[in-house]
Amino acid sequence: MYTWLWTLLFLSMNMGLAQRSTQEAFMLQYFERRIAQLEERLIKCEQNTLRLDQKIYDVSTEVRSQLAGVEVHRTEMKSQVDSVALRVERIERDVEYLETKIPNQPHIQVQDDLLEQQIKEAQKKKVKFTLGIDCSTTLTGVKSMKIVKKAENVYGSWLKDPTKGSVKIYVFSGNKNNTLLEFKSLKSVIEGRPAQARQIHLPFPWQGSGHTVFNGFVYYHKADTPNQILKVHLLNRTVADSMLLPGAGRLPVYALTTHTFLDLAVDELGLWVIYADPELGGNLVITKLDQSSLAVEHSWDTSCRSHNAETAFMICGTLYVVYNSRHGGRSSIDCLYDIHDTIHSQESPVMFFPKRYTNHYSIHYHPKDKLLYAWDDGFQTIYKLGVKSKQD
Ligand SMILES: *[C@@H]1O[C@H](CO)[C@@H](O)[C@H](O)[C@H]1NC(C)=O
Ligand SMILES: *[C@@H]1O[C@H](CO)[C@@H](O)[C@H](O)[C@H]1NC(C)=O
Repeated sequence: MYTWLWTLLFLSMNMGLAQRSTQEAFMLQYFERRIAQLEERLIKCEQNTLRLDQKIYDVSTEVRSQLAGVEVHRTEMKSQVDSVALRVERIERDVEYLETKIPNQPHIQVQDDLLEQQIKEAQKKKVKFTLGIDCSTTLTGVKSMKIVKKAENVYGSWLKDPTKGSVKIYVFSGNKNNTLLEFKSLKSVIEGRPAQARQIHLPFPWQGSGHTVFNGFVYYHKADTPNQILKVHLLNRTVADSMLLPGAGRLPVYALTTHTFLDLAVDELGLWVIYADPELGGNLVITKLDQSSLAVEHSWDTSCRSHNAETAFMICGTLYVVYNSRHGGRSSIDCLYDIHDTIHSQESPVMFFPKRYTNHYSIHYHPKDKLLYAWDDGFQTIYKLGVKSKQD
């Protein structure tokens, strides 16, 4: 009986065991399936993450390219604003020019408070010149201006023949040419009929804005040479003399007037050439030339900077440098150098030109008339100088 019972118990236990192991196998299978599913979902999830990453990358690339587009738009806007500003300036100049054409208003007399104040200050300081034989005047400021003509070219230079008794006007249009125009007088320039002008064809082209005429010769920088100066007879156009100016022509003379490498000038003392020397940190050097033999007499380091300079002129052995900004503004004489050492930059007040917006490509001084012949953004302009005699 017991044995049977045990056997039954054993049997039933065995059956239970068998049953359990089947259940466990089921469970195992089930878990394996679940794990496989989970793994699958994990892979999917990873793929999704990857896709999302890609999307985020795509979007950020898109945003970045859009931003670049915005930047381009902004630059375009800025250049448009700049060009509008430039046009406004030109219109302003046109208006000024037209105003000078109204008969009962023959020229603009700008009497700025600022200028008057500067003249007074200059007088107070009693800046005196010990002048050379021919020099009896001191520059006190730029008094007034007259726009004579609107030229075809933005670049150019013009001057009245400084030779005693001559009223001829010479015009060099552009920044390189082998031709210059000779007018009988200022009147024929204003009337502007081409027949009034004599075209002078030179044997070699000129370059920049630093040419000058003196005693029947034209002196100029021969184009496409670093530092060659030619002296040519105006009547028969033969080369009378030629020289190389040592150390010159490696930089534009004035940082704002990039076509001019040698700037020739005539004042009461004779012929000069102005250039910038890279070995002096771009300072301007003035060299006195002997106009008959075209040779160097003497050179001076003026310590005036080329940076932000647009042009310069000589009066009685003093260099006056005209400065402006790259974007155009009000020109001012900010640095001067006197070879006689009687007038100093630090003591002299800054002298402004009587116009808000200027852009001088060239300025030539006429010693007898005390006038400046300027090429102001394509306008042929004459400035009257405030001067005083040393006897005052
Ligand atoms: C040279 O100047 C003449 C006269 O002013 C002008 O007709 C001609 O177009 C100029 N040539 C160049 C290349 O600028
Ligand atoms: C050109 O003119 C000058 C001055 O009149 C004269 O000295 C020179 O000999 C002339 N040259 C030629 C080649 O005719």
